[in-house]
Amino acid sequence: MKQFTAKEFKIPALKGISAKTIEEHLKLYQGYVKNANGIYEKMDTYAADAPGNAYALNEFLRRFSFEYNGIRNHEVYFGSLEGGPKQLSDKSSLKKKISETWSSFDGWLAGFKNFAATIRGIGWAVLWYDPKADTLHTSWIDEQHLGVLNGCTMILGLDMWEHSYVADYQPSGKKQYVEDFFANLNWGVIEENFKKAQG
Ligand SMILES: [Fe+2]
Repeated sequence: MKQFTAKEFKIPALKGISAKTIEEHLKLYQGYVKNANGIYEKMDTYAADAPGNAYALNEFLRRFSFEYNGIRNHEVYFGSLEGGPKQLSDKSSLKKKISETWSSFDGWLAGFKNFAATIRGIGWAVLWYDPKADTLHTSWIDEQHLGVLNGCTMILGLDMWEHSYVADYQPSGKKQYVEDFFANLNWGVIEENFKKAQG
């Protein structure tokens, strides 16, 4: 039973992040799709003897959120690099929302780069829209799934796993990768993500 299909992304030439890194990174994304589908297939098979396979079924269920979020997180990341770099207009509703939430857009961006994105360990720095409180949050996800904010939508996701940057920047170049990610970012996509999340 195939539940998930890998999307195709048209990523232009990027500042700092090589085409080879993107090519390899897309293979990892496709791996999450394959593994999420594989978990569903295996669970179908193992369900034929659910009591006998209880431990395995438990572990598939535990692992599913890792694989599933690995798909969705990467779709936000690669989607935001399509179409080439675009600034966020001063008139945009997202820029206003960020400025209202954190006093200034530049202040939020500096905090995102200097604190969220450089947290030690593997995971994601994220800007979320929270529809229940009609507000935004910045937070960190460990791995792909630990720390996802229930009910919120990821509108901007920055992959801070080492596979995203080490081949181009070395471990010590993490901060430059973050700078280049924002130099490459299509804020038009992020604004659309925000509007869709608002419903
Ligand atoms: Fe990744």
